[in-house]
Amino acid sequence: MDKVLNSDEEQFWSGPSGQSWVTFEAEQDALLSEVLDAVLQRAGLKSGDAVMDIGCGTGALSVAAAGIIGEGGRGLAADISGPMLARAAERLRHAPWFSTQLADAEAADWSGAGFDAAISRFGVMFFGNPPRAFANIAKALRPGGRMTFATWAPVARNPYWRDPARIASARLGEVPKGEPNSPGPMGMADVDWSIRQLRAAGLADVACEEVTVHLPIEASPQKAAELVLVIGPAARVVRLYQASPEDAAAIRDDIARDLEQYQDGNAVRIPALLNLYTARVV
Ligand SMILES: C[S@@+](CC[C@H](N)C(=O)[O-])C[C@H]1O[C@@H](n2cnc3c(N)ncnc32)[C@H](O)[C@@H]1O
Repeated sequence: MDKVLNSDEEQFWSGPSGQSWVTFEAEQDALLSEVLDAVLQRAGLKSGDAVMDIGCGTGALSVAAAGIIGEGGRGLAADISGPMLARAAERLRHAPWFSTQLADAEAADWSGAGFDAAISRFGVMFFGNPPRAFANIAKALRPGGRMTFATWAPVARNPYWRDPARIASARLGEVPKGEPNSPGPMGMADVDWSIRQLRAAGLADVACEEVTVHLPIEASPQKAAELVLVIGPAARVVRLYQASPEDAAAIRDDIARDLEQYQDGNAVRIPALLNLYTARVV
């Protein structure tokens, strides 16, 4: 990687958290499938386009984009995490027109790369200096190039983030709250603030659409609770307090009871609210 400005994020995503995304890739991709659809629907990619996926993780969005742009197109999947990017590269091996790059999107030298579009599913909320990061991504796009990024709306409006963590905290204790608008999953939850960051990066036609999707888990509430406890926001509370097996089991059962309200046949479908940002390079 040529230059890193977000070394905390590099460490975080290259350690156990990134590894957990690799281990639970199938589950995460199923859970976030409607988020992927929402990004692609708004990005309007077409055959032959040049597109970059920012914070591509293990590559689900890149793989889908590679299929749309086809071999006449050009793609770049960029991520700061070695383990996650390695998995993306493996998944993209059948689409050689889509390359991968280990890169801090805030610092990589992409000047003049001439991409038509930048897209992301939950990969752009972790920048220490968002205006600098978005200005750097803009350098990779041609004039008129489009950005389409999905981020989470606030915790209070997202049961997946709000409820399992609340249930775990009720048994174990609170976790320290981060500063508002600091890098993290909720880093672009505040729409007005985020729009100011994108405008400060010199972007035009900056807009945010609130989009409701569902997070599907093909399992009973009890099985879904087991997964949520490992990959969801409650996991942080359980890790922080090193929960005993008894506490973990009680939290899992409480989460399962809570998830019953979202049961839909053989699946659990948790409603979720996204902030979908779009912008254009001038
Ligand atoms: C929540 S994960 C989402 C992964 C993937 N987009 C997906 O939806 O499956 C966030 C991703 O952003 C990446 N990331 C965080 N900060 C980054 C940065 N400064 N530059 C590039 N990637 C970054 C992480 O390594 C991680 O893969």
